Amino acid sequence: MRPLILSLLIAALVSAHAEPKTEQEVEVQRKLQAASYYCAPAVAEFTASRKRQFSQKVLAGRPQLPGYDDLFSGSYADLVDGSADPGDAQSLLACSPARRESEMQNNTCVLTPIVTEGPYYHREGHPIRQNIAENELGLLLLLDIGVIDVNTCQPLPNVLVDIWQANATGYYAGHPVPRPELRDEKPQVGGKRSGLLSAYPRTKFEETFLRGAWPTDGRGVAQFTTIFPGYYTGRATHIHTKVFTAWETLSNGTFQSDHLAHVGQFFFDDEVTSQIDKMHPYTENPIRDTYGRTRNWRDSLNIFEDSHGPEGMYNPVFKLEFLGGVISQGLIGFITMGINASATYDNFWKG
Ligand SMILES: *[C@@H]1O[C@H](CO)[C@@H](O)[C@H](O)[C@H]1NC(C)=O
Ligand SMILES: *[C@@H]1O[C@H](CO)[C@@H](O)[C@H](O)[C@H]1NC(C)=O
Ligand SMILES: *[C@@H]1O[C@H](CO)[C@@H](O)[C@H](O)[C@H]1NC(C)=O
Ligand SMILES: *[C@@H]1O[C@H](CO)[C@@H](O)[C@H](O)[C@H]1NC(C)=O
Repeated sequence: MRPLILSLLIAALVSAHAEPKTEQEVEVQRKLQAASYYCAPAVAEFTASRKRQFSQKVLAGRPQLPGYDDLFSGSYADLVDGSADPGDAQSLLACSPARRESEMQNNTCVLTPIVTEGPYYHREGHPIRQNIAENELGLLLLLDIGVIDVNTCQPLPNVLVDIWQANATGYYAGHPVPRPELRDEKPQVGGKRSGLLSAYPRTKFEETFLRGAWPTDGRGVAQFTTIFPGYYTGRATHIHTKVFTAWETLSNGTFQSDHLAHVGQFFFDDEVTSQIDKMHPYTENPIRDTYGRTRNWRDSLNIFEDSHGPEGMYNPVFKLEFLGGVISQGLIGFITMGINASATYDNFWKG
């Protein structure tokens, strides 16, 4: 029975890939992937050292919290399934145990090179700031995003990490309502856009919540304060990102750039997101009782799957830690992107 189910599953995955991408796109992805394999051990160490640094900072601040050490004994998933081995703190703090191997591990925390930027990017108007939350309500989420250059396997200082995401109930700044004639639209069935609604148009030009960009520091890390994103029809819970290697700061605090080196999306473990689904205001999501939240592997346009790279070897999922003693005090997510700093791309395929 099992092999049959498995081979059916593989067939489904393969046919899901039938959606053609250009030769050029596939070639770029493959080259980056090959380069990233080589960087895997460096990335694992990079992420591990950031986690160690963070846990030391937090532990120094509140050594009195009972059981606090346990929170750093592994990822959230390890805590849930109890598989963490508290004896080996060094390896558990790492994204994956840092092994001296050229082969990429499951949890190496390298984001896949390029997936669609989607319909909600604002080419102009993303403020340069670290706290993108404005007055949006939701679970506190800190992001620790590392960037490495796959040409050298070294962290990349001073590149601009641009992020944008939906609010707790699934709306992007500027896009509050569907087109009037599409108010009763149902998600598409079948085809490339299966599960999706048409994109909501930009109607509120002044809104900037949950959008912002910040340059990586000397260690190649950009940190952000935000809220955990909500979900909308057809898409797995995610945060978008672009990386620019040069940019011009505008007088109103936003930026312009034609040096795009990366477009990607970050995801979260479904188990964690299921817990957050139960918290206010995530419980107010308008599609909660109809279509519900799309699980990662059911993501429309194969975006979650594509984010694992052509050979499925990348991990686009944040490694999450609790910020306090309980989940409602917030989370911090660690991830590392491998980008090609010498490349400047046009925008790839838009979904
Ligand atoms: C990832 O982990 C799964 C489950 O442990 C395993 O079956 C799979 O082969 C691993 N993939 C890679 C690329 O290591
Ligand atoms: C900042 O200025 C740019 C260029 O004039 C403009 O497109 C953008 O909308 C402005 N952004 C904000 C938030 O005011
Ligand atoms: C998210 O944004 C939409 C559209 O602007 C707004 O109606 C909704 O109240 C926001 N969600 C929360 C939880 O504030
Ligand atoms: C990085 O980009 C440069 C310039 O486009 C290209 O020549 C090189 O092959 C790319 N390297 C990788 C690993 O993709």
